[in-house]
Amino acid sequence: MPRVHNKLASKPKAGKLTKAMPRHSPIISKAPHMLHGGDYNPEQWDPQTWTEDDRLMGLAHVNSVTLGVFSWVSLEPEEGKFTFEWMDKIMDMQAAAGRIVGLATPSAASPAWLSAKYPDSLRVGQDGVRRRHGNRVNYCWTSPAYRAQVSKIATMLAERYKAHPALGYFHVSNEYGGECFCDLCQEAFRGWLKVRYGNLDTLNKAYWTAFWGHTYTDWSQIEAPGGTGETAVYGLTLDWKRFASDRIVDFYRQESGALKKVAPSIPVTTNLMGVYPVLDPWKIAPYMDFIAWDSYPWFSSTPSDLGSWTYTSFAHDLNRSLKNKPFVLMECSPSSSNWYPVMGLKRPNAHVLEGLQAVAHGADGVQYFQWRQSRGSSEQFHGAVVAHNNRSDARVFREVADLGRELESLDDVVGAAKPAEVALIYDWENSWAIDMVAAPRTKNRDYLGTVLAHYSAFWSQGVTVDVVDSDQDLSGYKLVVAPMLFLLKDGVVERLAKFVEGGGTLMTTYWSGWVDSTTLAFQGPSPLSKLLGLWTEETDALFDGQSNQVVSSASDLLTKGAKYSASVLCELVHTTTAESLASYGSDFYAGRPAVTRNKFGSGQAIFVASRNEQSFTNDLLISLMKQLGISGAVEGDLPTGITVQARHGDGKDFLFVLNCSDKEKAVRLGESGLIDLDGAEFSGELILPAFGTAILVRAKAGSLVGASN
Ligand code: GLA
Ligand code: ZN
Repeated sequence: MPRVHNKLASKPKAGKLTKAMPRHSPIISKAPHMLHGGDYNPEQWDPQTWTEDDRLMGLAHVNSVTLGVFSWVSLEPEEGKFTFEWMDKIMDMQAAAGRIVGLATPSAASPAWLSAKYPDSLRVGQDGVRRRHGNRVNYCWTSPAYRAQVSKIATMLAERYKAHPALGYFHVSNEYGGECFCDLCQEAFRGWLKVRYGNLDTLNKAYWTAFWGHTYTDWSQIEAPGGTGETAVYGLTLDWKRFASDRIVDFYRQESGALKKVAPSIPVTTNLMGVYPVLDPWKIAPYMDFIAWDSYPWFSSTPSDLGSWTYTSFAHDLNRSLKNKPFVLMECSPSSSNWYPVMGLKRPNAHVLEGLQAVAHGADGVQYFQWRQSRGSSEQFHGAVVAHNNRSDARVFREVADLGRELESLDDVVGAAKPAEVALIYDWENSWAIDMVAAPRTKNRDYLGTVLAHYSAFWSQGVTVDVVDSDQDLSGYKLVVAPMLFLLKDGVVERLAKFVEGGGTLMTTYWSGWVDSTTLAFQGPSPLSKLLGLWTEETDALFDGQSNQVVSSASDLLTKGAKYSASVLCELVHTTTAESLASYGSDFYAGRPAVTRNKFGSGQAIFVASRNEQSFTNDLLISLMKQLGISGAVEGDLPTGITVQARHGDGKDFLFVLNCSDKEKAVRLGESGLIDLDGAEFSGELILPAFGTAILVRAKAGSLVGASN
């Protein structure tokens, strides 16, 4: 790959710039660099090892460590007895080395003394059984005793370190997750429902409890769904999921609030988990100063499978979209992860690719779990920067250092924006609702997979996509893609209609607009009917192995006569104002519309009635991109497995060319005037090794004059 540093010496030519967007401020103002480092758990080690760690961190180009994630019992071995002295030393060592610390609150690892003394702090499972002490994140979200203890230790940490030169930000808890079914949480659920519905009559109507005689006559009769209890009231199940997510947000607000009270200017974050279903990230994001997430895609498949790369890109885009700002990849494994059934090794180059992939999608930091591999206990074989071999010349350590060196050269990219013209809707509440209902198929509903199938069409073209939920403002996008939007939250139809009316293009699919936010089916035409210019009569669920065909009859968005295979779900619609672009090829609904377009205001709404093979999704979306003038990061066709992702800095675009395949690839870009970070003119063809990467710069004339570094 072209050597990466940020000397921009040559004379650049004028080039295309994406929609101008101001550069964001650095996430940590005193460290305006790409963060590189990760979870450091020194309480496992002796002071000589700390000294060795300090030396090795220098060699690995680490500038940031996350400290104290599981340190509660090491900081407070018994209630009220505090032992911060070891942490003082580590903080001082980090400050002396010029590194910043993401100081964690330790609530993920409740001490054994706390569980023994305050048993209601322990979580209760869906079976109603209180768990015993052990593992981690094993606490009740409501327990007043636990919340008081959490606030106390957070306050102590903030008071002690708020002015410490090493402190960069607070890392609140760790991977919040799970549900508690204790009496206190159930009572909180009833309180939450009272606020939402006001009275039981409204709740009963929303839940359609008259069917099967489920009518509640007193609030006290309502229990959390699932387990051995109620599983038949969809509205209740959906509300419990909303409540469980809100409970976590409430807990986070208290915990981070304790820090903010003492140290209001120190940024707070917590590490999210991609598409983890229990916590709706859109609900917690407003209370986070910056977004951070943990990514462990590795080794769920063979190295030649592109799926984990496209999923990871999607998840990065989601995390960037949460605040429309740079985020931090808070954790990834420098080597293999310890929970997959097969723990294959990361291939050469793949580590640098993984790090630059995050940056390409908007990360301003790449960090690991963990710095030094534990000698024992549950994560003893999880990959770490310093492995059991304890060597800095080991492959993993060297690749980490390589990435660190490259990140050090990317100060110009810090804060660079990533404006998008496409929004792809992936919505938590919709996902819960789809997974819950008993129709039209229980197998292979695959909401996420369907959204990813749409995402990959953009990814392979190097087109930037914002991944948003259905509550977000859509103005400013050219294209909104909303696959399987089964549940329509209040206000969504109005927002979609306004977007299309104003000139936008909406693409949606089968299984959209069936139920309202309480999961009640719409009666009469779906609220999407007018916008789509059609009404749905029935939906056919196909058995495994059964298929239909979609045959194109139009010649603008699809090639006339093109045939694609359809499976899983085929919706049978009647057009009202829409035109049919393709029709079904067989079965009793042969000839009926399978793809439609409705002109609405100055925009258009495209409807795809069946789940079609990937080539259909690619062809349709690529045509739409051409029609709407949505272009990828670079001109030229990208070979399979390659994406190019752009970030927009001060007057220049940074282009990250990522070879996510396990084969060497030649990339021919049809654009002149690109330079590499050395300032050398780019010749037009790049040969990237398997999992290789390159960074190119497109400059606006004159913008690089006087560029620093
Ligand atoms: C998660 C956790 C870490 C560690 C890693 C690796 O992301 O946050 O503490 O357990 O997984 O297993
Ligand atoms: Zn509880």
